[in-house]
Amino acid sequence: MKSVAALLGIGLLVIVGKAAYGADNPAGEAQSLFEKKCSACHSTSRTTSQKKTAREWERTVLRMKNGYGAPMSDEEARAVIDYLAKNHGE
Ligand code: HEC
Repeated sequence: MKSVAALLGIGLLVIVGKAAYGADNPAGEAQSLFEKKCSACHSTSRTTSQKKTAREWERTVLRMKNGYGAPMSDEEARAVIDYLAKNHGE
């Protein structure tokens, strides 16, 4: 019984820890999303070497998604646009 309780405790810690990490670190998640989605066809430095306005990043990301078929959902595109506008904005 004791070990079951311990296992439950660990499981709970993992779940709570994960939720807290997500809440505290949305920028980190957007960054890894960007690194994952935007490095398939060219290096991320093609993006990070530039500064653009939010509108320009929107246009760029949508061109990658709709023009070249970068595989990502609308929500993911939105998160990447926000991340780039914040961290590589003009
Ligand atoms: C399916 C392949 C592909 C993926 C995935 C991709 N790109 Fe591109 N990207 C291209 C191609 C092809 C070019 C060169 C042609 C051009 O500039 O339109 C390019 C060029 C660029 C440029 C330089 C031109 C400019 O407009 O400044 C940037 C910045 C860029 N990509 C950002 C991104 C970002 C951000 C993502 C992730 C959302 C991404 N790319 C994902 C294919 C891709």
